[in-house]
Amino acid sequence: MPHADWAVQDGAVVERPRDIQQHPLLSAIYDRHDELIADHLPGGETLELAFGQHIHPQADVGTEAWRSNAVGVGRPAVLGDARSLPFDDGVFDAIIGRRFLHHVPDGDRADILQEVHRVLRPSGRVVLVEGTPGLYRRLTKRTAFSLGLLDEDNDRYGHLSEAAVTGLVSAHFEVRTKRTLGSPFILASIAESRLAASLFPLYERTQCIKWWTFIVGQKPEPPD
Ligand SMILES: C[S@@+](CC[C@H](N)C(=O)[O-])C[C@H]1O[C@@H](n2cnc3c(N)ncnc32)[C@H](O)[C@@H]1O
Repeated sequence: MPHADWAVQDGAVVERPRDIQQHPLLSAIYDRHDELIADHLPGGETLELAFGQHIHPQADVGTEAWRSNAVGVGRPAVLGDARSLPFDDGVFDAIIGRRFLHHVPDGDRADILQEVHRVLRPSGRVVLVEGTPGLYRRLTKRTAFSLGLLDEDNDRYGHLSEAAVTGLVSAHFEVRTKRTLGSPFILASIAESRLAASLFPLYERTQCIKWWTFIVGQKPEPPD
């Protein structure tokens, strides 16, 4: 599987993630996550951080640290580091970020949430989807490597527990929603076969594995 290029920039692991269109179950999962996220977007100006090669249909703009990710996403994209966002204060109504906090060292994650808080308007929302660590993830990854489905492991900083993500969000925001996403069928999402997409209804009915944390925070209004 091409999981091509990556590099370390100022400590952050930046990369060109795999093309989800080549993985039919994964692609269906992204569509589902897009819907879940849309239910929590307030409308207005929306930014997606570290969008990789898939940007939310309602995002107006994205930022990415790996230049070529912007090619083909069909949305204005700014080359930039989420730890120091190239935007003025209070200009966004919503910010989405998926599966990227584990790409920066632990100590930098709070800086990203601080930046998100800075560029959001009061009452603006942050929506994060972050992978959680755990035995099932370790086993799945090991299987994928041994089957040759993944080639190089660049996970150097480790995923964030649900408690860690919640702590980062609740330091600045009121937590509005939180849930766990993940199914035993997640391994099939690496497959390129169209058959894998037929597993989606089963994937949906078996959300019993802690694979991702989905969390929505709202920026408080300033006191009168
Ligand atoms: C695992 S990929 C996830 C991509 C996409 N959000 C998704 O869910 O498909 C992580 C992405 O974060 C980007 N990234 C890593 N560190 C970053 C940083 N400090 N600022 C902006 N983007 C970053 C990488 O280039 C990569 O595209």
